[in-house]
Amino acid sequence: MTLYPVLIEVPHDENEPPLQRMKKQRGYARRALRRCAELSGAPSNGWSQQKGGAPIPNGKFYWSISHTRGLAAAVVAMQPVGIDVERIRERRVDLFDEVGRGEEWSLLGGRTWFAFFYLWTAKEAVLKANSLGIGHLDQCRLIEPDRNARSFNKGDPLVSSLLNHPTRSDAQDQRRSESAMVDAFSPCASKLVFYDATWLVWHRMMTTDFIAAVATRNPTPIEWTRVF
Ligand SMILES: CC(C)(COP(=O)(O)OP(=O)(O)OC[C@H]1O[C@@H](n2cnc3c(N)ncnc32)[C@H](O)[C@@H]1OP(=O)(O)O)[C@@H](O)C(=O)NCCC(=O)NCCS
Repeated sequence: MTLYPVLIEVPHDENEPPLQRMKKQRGYARRALRRCAELSGAPSNGWSQQKGGAPIPNGKFYWSISHTRGLAAAVVAMQPVGIDVERIRERRVDLFDEVGRGEEWSLLGGRTWFAFFYLWTAKEAVLKANSLGIGHLDQCRLIEPDRNARSFNKGDPLVSSLLNHPTRSDAQDQRRSESAMVDAFSPCASKLVFYDATWLVWHRMMTTDFIAAVATRNPTPIEWTRVF
Protein backbone atom coordinates (compact mmCIF):
# COMPACT_ATOMS: atom_id res chain seq x y z
CA MET A 1 0.00 0.00 0.00
CA THR A 2 1.27 3.46 -0.89
CA LEU A 3 1.68 5.82 2.06
CA TYR A 4 0.06 9.23 1.69
CA PRO A 5 1.42 11.43 4.48
CA VAL A 6 -0.38 14.76 4.51
CA LEU A 7 1.29 18.01 5.63
CA ILE A 8 -0.92 20.97 6.37
CA GLU A 9 0.13 24.52 7.16
CA VAL A 10 -1.27 25.91 10.41
CA PRO A 11 -1.80 29.68 10.33
CA HIS A 12 0.36 31.25 12.97
CA ASP A 13 -0.60 34.13 15.23
CA GLU A 14 2.16 35.49 17.50
CA ASN A 15 -0.36 36.74 20.06
CA GLU A 16 -2.33 33.52 20.39
CA PRO A 17 -2.38 32.03 23.90
CA PRO A 18 -0.51 28.66 24.03
CA LEU A 19 -3.59 26.57 24.86
CA GLN A 20 -5.55 28.04 22.01
CA ARG A 21 -2.61 27.50 19.66
CA MET A 22 -2.35 23.85 20.72
CA LYS A 23 -6.08 23.33 20.21
CA LYS A 24 -5.81 24.82 16.73
CA GLN A 25 -2.78 22.65 15.83
CA ARG A 26 -4.62 19.53 17.01
CA GLY A 27 -7.62 20.47 14.90
CA TYR A 28 -5.40 20.85 11.82
CA ALA A 29 -3.76 17.49 12.52
CA ARG A 30 -7.23 15.89 12.47
CA ARG A 31 -7.95 17.65 9.20
CA ALA A 32 -4.73 16.17 7.79
CA LEU A 33 -5.83 12.76 9.09
CA ARG A 34 -9.20 12.99 7.33
CA ARG A 35 -7.51 13.87 4.04
CA CYS A 36 -4.94 11.13 4.51
CA ALA A 37 -7.65 8.56 5.25
CA GLU A 38 -9.43 9.59 2.09
CA LEU A 39 -6.27 9.27 -0.02
CA SER A 40 -5.49 5.90 1.62
CA GLY A 41 -8.94 4.38 1.10
CA ALA A 42 -9.45 4.22 4.87
CA PRO A 43 -12.67 5.00 6.76
CA SER A 44 -13.49 8.65 7.46
CA ASN A 45 -14.25 7.97 11.14
CA GLY A 46 -13.30 5.51 13.87
CA TRP A 47 -9.92 7.11 14.72
CA SER A 48 -9.69 6.73 18.48
CA GLN A 49 -6.85 6.90 20.99
CA GLN A 50 -5.74 5.24 24.18
CA LYS A 51 -6.00 7.23 27.41
CA GLY A 52 -2.38 8.35 27.12
CA GLY A 53 -2.92 9.53 23.52
CA ALA A 54 -1.44 6.63 21.51
CA PRO A 55 -3.54 5.97 18.38
CA ILE A 56 -5.65 2.77 18.29
CA PRO A 57 -5.61 1.08 14.86
CA ASN A 58 -8.82 1.63 12.94
CA GLY A 59 -9.48 -1.93 11.76
CA LYS A 60 -6.49 -2.77 9.55
CA PHE A 61 -5.31 0.85 9.38
CA TYR A 62 -2.55 2.13 11.68
CA TRP A 63 -2.20 5.89 11.97
CA SER A 64 -0.16 8.68 13.46
CA ILE A 65 -0.40 12.48 13.69
CA SER A 66 1.98 15.25 14.66
CA HIS A 67 1.68 19.01 15.12
CA THR A 68 3.96 21.87 15.83
CA ARG A 69 3.72 25.66 15.57
CA GLY A 70 2.95 26.28 11.87
CA LEU A 71 2.59 22.70 10.63
CA ALA A 72 0.47 19.59 11.26
CA ALA A 73 0.71 16.15 9.67
CA ALA A 74 -0.91 12.72 9.49
CA VAL A 75 -0.22 9.31 8.02
CA VAL A 76 -2.24 6.09 7.69
CA ALA A 77 -0.77 2.68 6.83
CA MET A 78 -1.54 -1.04 6.87
CA GLN A 79 1.51 -1.57 9.07
CA PRO A 80 2.70 0.23 12.23
CA VAL A 81 3.57 3.79 11.28
CA GLY A 82 4.75 6.97 12.99
CA ILE A 83 5.04 10.58 11.87
CA ASP A 84 6.80 13.57 13.40
CA VAL A 85 7.13 17.19 12.29
CA GLU A 86 9.37 19.86 13.75
CA ARG A 87 10.28 23.45 13.08
CA ILE A 88 14.04 23.75 12.58
CA ARG A 89 15.45 26.18 15.08
CA GLU A 90 18.29 26.58 17.52
CA ARG A 91 17.95 24.66 20.75
CA ARG A 92 20.16 24.08 23.78
CA VAL A 93 23.47 22.67 22.60
CA ASP A 94 23.47 19.93 25.24
CA LEU A 95 20.44 18.37 23.51
CA PHE A 96 22.79 16.96 20.85
CA ASP A 97 24.11 14.50 23.42
CA GLU A 98 20.62 13.52 24.51
CA VAL A 99 19.38 12.84 21.01
CA GLY A 100 22.32 11.18 19.27
CA ARG A 101 25.74 9.59 19.70
CA GLY A 102 29.02 10.57 18.13
CA GLU A 103 28.73 7.99 15.32
CA GLU A 104 25.27 9.24 14.40
CA TRP A 105 26.41 12.87 14.16
CA SER A 106 29.36 11.71 12.03
CA LEU A 107 26.98 9.90 9.67
CA LEU A 108 25.09 13.19 9.33
CA GLY A 109 28.14 15.32 8.67
CA GLY A 110 28.40 16.85 12.14
CA ARG A 111 26.31 18.62 14.77
CA THR A 112 24.17 21.12 12.90
CA TRP A 113 20.55 22.06 13.62
CA PHE A 114 19.48 20.38 10.38
CA ALA A 115 21.18 17.17 11.48
CA PHE A 116 19.61 17.53 14.90
CA PHE A 117 16.06 17.78 13.62
CA TYR A 118 16.67 15.12 10.95
CA LEU A 119 17.68 12.68 13.68
CA TRP A 120 15.13 13.87 16.21
CA THR A 121 12.15 13.51 13.83
CA ALA A 122 13.43 10.12 12.64
CA LYS A 123 13.62 8.78 16.19
CA GLU A 124 10.32 10.32 17.27
CA ALA A 125 8.60 8.77 14.24
CA VAL A 126 10.01 5.34 15.15
CA LEU A 127 8.94 5.71 18.80
CA LYS A 128 5.46 6.78 17.79
CA ALA A 129 5.12 3.80 15.42
CA ASN A 130 5.84 1.67 18.48
CA SER A 131 3.37 3.65 20.67
CA LEU A 132 6.26 4.47 22.99
CA GLY A 133 7.43 7.72 24.55
CA ILE A 134 10.77 9.50 24.63
CA GLY A 135 11.88 7.36 27.56
CA HIS A 136 12.94 4.83 24.88
CA LEU A 137 14.90 7.30 22.78
CA ASP A 138 18.28 5.85 23.71
CA GLN A 139 17.26 2.46 22.23
CA CYS A 140 16.91 4.04 18.80
CA ARG A 141 20.01 4.43 16.64
CA LEU A 142 20.62 5.71 13.12
CA ILE A 143 22.67 3.18 11.18
CA GLU A 144 22.30 4.51 7.64
CA PRO A 145 21.19 8.01 6.64
CA ASP A 146 19.36 8.32 3.35
CA ARG A 147 21.55 8.45 0.30
CA ASN A 148 21.48 12.23 0.14
CA ALA A 149 22.63 12.86 3.67
CA ARG A 150 26.13 14.22 3.33
CA SER A 151 26.08 17.40 5.32
CA PHE A 152 23.34 19.53 6.66
CA ASN A 153 24.17 23.14 6.01
CA LYS A 154 21.52 25.26 4.38
CA GLY A 155 21.71 25.14 0.59
CA ASP A 156 23.63 21.87 0.53
CA PRO A 157 22.59 18.92 -1.65
CA LEU A 158 20.65 17.16 1.11
CA VAL A 159 18.43 20.10 1.89
CA SER A 160 17.75 20.78 -1.78
CA SER A 161 17.00 17.12 -2.41
CA LEU A 162 14.60 16.97 0.51
CA LEU A 163 12.87 20.07 -0.79
CA ASN A 164 12.88 19.25 -4.49
CA HIS A 165 11.56 15.74 -4.93
CA PRO A 166 9.70 15.11 -8.18
CA THR A 167 6.21 16.53 -8.12
CA ARG A 168 3.19 15.17 -9.97
CA SER A 169 2.64 17.43 -12.95
CA ASP A 170 -1.04 18.04 -12.22
CA ALA A 171 0.02 19.49 -8.89
CA GLN A 172 1.68 22.46 -10.60
CA ASP A 173 -1.70 24.09 -11.04
CA GLN A 174 -1.70 27.05 -8.67
CA ARG A 175 -5.48 26.92 -8.38
CA ARG A 176 -5.34 23.56 -6.63
CA SER A 177 -5.39 23.67 -2.87
CA GLU A 178 -2.88 20.86 -2.52
CA SER A 179 0.09 19.37 -4.26
CA ALA A 180 1.44 15.85 -4.35
CA MET A 181 5.14 15.13 -3.99
CA VAL A 182 6.13 11.67 -5.18
CA ASP A 183 9.12 9.84 -3.70
CA ALA A 184 10.78 6.75 -4.97
CA PHE A 185 10.80 4.43 -1.95
CA SER A 186 13.72 2.51 -0.53
CA PRO A 187 16.55 4.57 -2.11
CA CYS A 188 15.36 7.60 -0.14
CA ALA A 189 14.84 5.98 3.25
CA SER A 190 17.23 6.10 6.15
CA LYS A 191 17.62 3.09 8.44
CA LEU A 192 17.35 3.05 12.21
CA VAL A 193 17.57 0.19 14.67
CA PHE A 194 15.10 0.22 17.55
CA TYR A 195 15.76 -2.54 20.07
CA ASP A 196 16.28 -5.48 17.61
CA ALA A 197 14.21 -4.23 14.72
CA THR A 198 15.24 -2.19 11.70
CA TRP A 199 13.00 0.73 10.72
CA LEU A 200 12.85 2.75 7.51
CA VAL A 201 12.39 6.49 7.76
CA TRP A 202 11.48 8.93 4.98
CA HIS A 203 12.11 12.63 5.40
CA ARG A 204 10.52 15.58 3.71
CA MET A 205 11.16 19.28 4.21
CA MET A 206 8.54 21.93 3.80
CA THR A 207 10.33 25.18 3.03
CA THR A 208 13.68 25.32 4.82
CA ASP A 209 11.91 25.76 8.18
CA PHE A 210 10.08 22.47 8.72
CA ILE A 211 11.09 18.84 8.53
CA ALA A 212 8.83 15.78 8.63
CA ALA A 213 9.67 12.09 9.04
CA VAL A 214 7.60 8.93 8.55
CA ALA A 215 8.69 5.54 9.94
CA THR A 216 7.58 2.04 8.91
CA ARG A 217 9.09 -1.44 9.04
CA ASN A 218 8.56 -2.42 5.40
CA PRO A 219 9.52 -0.58 2.20
CA THR A 220 6.58 1.09 0.54
CA PRO A 221 5.97 3.77 -2.06
CA ILE A 222 5.34 7.13 -0.45
CA GLU A 223 3.51 10.15 -1.82
CA TRP A 224 3.55 13.27 0.32
CA THR A 225 0.68 15.70 -0.06
CA ARG A 226 0.89 19.30 0.99
CA VAL A 227 -2.39 20.99 1.81
CA PHE A 228 -2.55 24.79 1.85
C1 LIG B 1 4.08 10.81 22.05
C2 LIG B 1 5.16 11.80 21.94
C3 LIG B 1 6.31 11.07 21.31
C4 LIG B 1 4.62 12.93 21.07
O1 LIG B 1 5.61 13.81 20.66
P1 LIG B 1 5.46 15.37 20.45
O2 LIG B 1 6.58 15.76 19.56
O3 LIG B 1 5.30 16.02 21.75
O4 LIG B 1 4.09 15.65 19.73
P2 LIG B 1 3.60 15.36 18.26
O5 LIG B 1 2.84 16.53 17.83
O6 LIG B 1 4.67 14.88 17.36
O7 LIG B 1 2.59 14.14 18.47
C5 LIG B 1 1.47 14.29 19.24
C6 LIG B 1 0.53 13.18 18.89
O8 LIG B 1 1.13 11.92 19.11
C7 LIG B 1 0.10 11.01 19.43
N1 LIG B 1 0.57 10.26 20.59
C8 LIG B 1 0.45 10.54 21.89
N2 LIG B 1 1.04 9.57 22.62
C9 LIG B 1 1.53 8.68 21.75
C10 LIG B 1 2.24 7.46 21.87
N3 LIG B 1 2.56 6.94 23.05
N4 LIG B 1 2.59 6.80 20.76
C11 LIG B 1 2.27 7.28 19.54
N5 LIG B 1 1.60 8.45 19.34
C12 LIG B 1 1.25 9.12 20.46
C13 LIG B 1 -1.16 11.80 19.70
O9 LIG B 1 -2.03 11.62 18.61
C14 LIG B 1 -0.68 13.21 19.76
O10 LIG B 1 -1.56 14.16 19.22
P3 LIG B 1 -2.87 14.63 20.03
O11 LIG B 1 -2.42 14.94 21.41
O12 LIG B 1 -3.34 15.82 19.28
O13 LIG B 1 -3.81 13.47 19.95
C15 LIG B 1 5.61 12.41 23.26
O14 LIG B 1 4.64 13.30 23.71
C16 LIG B 1 5.80 11.39 24.30
O15 LIG B 1 6.90 10.92 24.46
N6 LIG B 1 4.74 11.01 24.97
C17 LIG B 1 4.77 9.92 25.88
C18 LIG B 1 5.16 10.40 27.21
C19 LIG B 1 5.69 9.27 27.98
O16 LIG B 1 6.76 8.75 27.73
N7 LIG B 1 4.93 8.87 29.01
C20 LIG B 1 5.32 7.86 29.88
C21 LIG B 1 4.53 6.60 29.60
S1 LIG B 1 5.58 5.36 29.01
